[in-house]
Amino acid sequence: MGRIYRVGYAGALNGSLKLQGAKNSVLKLMAATVLAEGTHRIGNVPLISDVDVMREILHAIGAESSWTGPHELEITVPSADRLSPYPPVELVGRIRASIVLAGPLLAVTGRARLAAPGGDDFGTRPIDIHEDALQRLGASFEYLDDYLEVKAPRLEGAGLVFEFPSHTATDNAIMAAVLARGTTVIENAAREPEVVDLAAALASMGARIEGAGTSRIVIEGVDRLSPMDHDVVGDRVVAATYLTALGMAGGRLALEGIDTSIMEILIRKLGACGVSVKPVAGGLVAEAGPRPRAADIQTLPYPGVATDYKPMLVAMLSRAEGVSVVSENLFSGRFRYLDELRRLGADLISEGHHVVVRGVPRLVGGRVQAYDIRAGAALVVGALGAENETVITGVEHIERGYDGLVENLAALGADISVEEE
Ligand code: UD1
Repeated sequence: MGRIYRVGYAGALNGSLKLQGAKNSVLKLMAATVLAEGTHRIGNVPLISDVDVMREILHAIGAESSWTGPHELEITVPSADRLSPYPPVELVGRIRASIVLAGPLLAVTGRARLAAPGGDDFGTRPIDIHEDALQRLGASFEYLDDYLEVKAPRLEGAGLVFEFPSHTATDNAIMAAVLARGTTVIENAAREPEVVDLAAALASMGARIEGAGTSRIVIEGVDRLSPMDHDVVGDRVVAATYLTALGMAGGRLALEGIDTSIMEILIRKLGACGVSVKPVAGGLVAEAGPRPRAADIQTLPYPGVATDYKPMLVAMLSRAEGVSVVSENLFSGRFRYLDELRRLGADLISEGHHVVVRGVPRLVGGRVQAYDIRAGAALVVGALGAENETVITGVEHIERGYDGLVENLAALGADISVEEE
């Protein structure tokens, strides 16, 4: 028993959509509310299950939240002495992004207890960069059975040099540093647009941060912050999902709520694949012919092609004219969805961190399983180019990150529905 998606072969997609806010920003913004007592407003919040889990975590530590509009969340945070630094480990284990509670909880309560990070099926996801950063800011780490306890009676600004520009470690270090005594400098910081969004929200709270969006971020600690009033940046990974769906099926799509400057290299790559994307005020318009073209793509930290785009790109390229090589440079285990795409007739050979994709004219429907958010989205993209019906199980993974994917694709003319099985 569970929810499934049924997807039929799609003719050209046509229409316009309003893009949801970014999962990888909103979860950090929600964590950041802990930094200031009072009532915060966050707009453009996507209705996704990871947001529901983050709300439960916030409630468990003493905050309250309610929907004040279709995509608007109000979060009321009590004074630090009434906040619990110990969210239930079971809840925290359900979202990888919960590690970003470490920074803000340390900053206001001096301690945090977190589950060993959960999340997607990517292979090992170490947290040594988080650990090193928070330790340099004055925290101690203790690994207990199924959780980790972090303590810091007082955080002090420090010079941090990241071994790798980790996205969530950058978020965590920024949130720990905004209330620390003195100056923190993060070298080799992640440059992702969602880091910029977090820094903008924190600046609206009174934080002093310079350089977000570059690899050197400087944070001047302040004594107190006030609540945020902030709208979440558009979700570029969801935008990429609709663009690859368009590449798969052909057609024309107008997408509102995305600044194309945050996905330039992807847009260039999509252009090489025959999906033309043009910026317009407040969004983009895209067009694609009936069959994509092959291209070689490698994932890199921002501004490179994001690893989160990759499963959908591989799905699209699986029916491209020609042979593509797609290389993964961030995660060791992000390949399990390949077997599921193969079930749909994709011709994929994986070798180390490369996948050779020999495009076939059409995929073939089948029964496939989503193992994580983007792997699931890739199966939806694959199914749009598959003859006969595809049934996708494990869709609760997809719904951790996608707000109305089925409804939106159906509105564009795709043959897709959701049902209980
Ligand atoms: C974030 C995104 C995720 C995206 C990823 C890369 C969120 C909630 N998630 O994940 O969707 O796929 O960025 O763009 O924002 N690493 C270490 N030690 C650490 C941390 C990371 O070795 O302490 C390594 C990882 O194993 C990986 C690489 O650094 O190889 C990138 O990871 P990172 O940027 O940290 O990804 P996340 O922030 O976890």
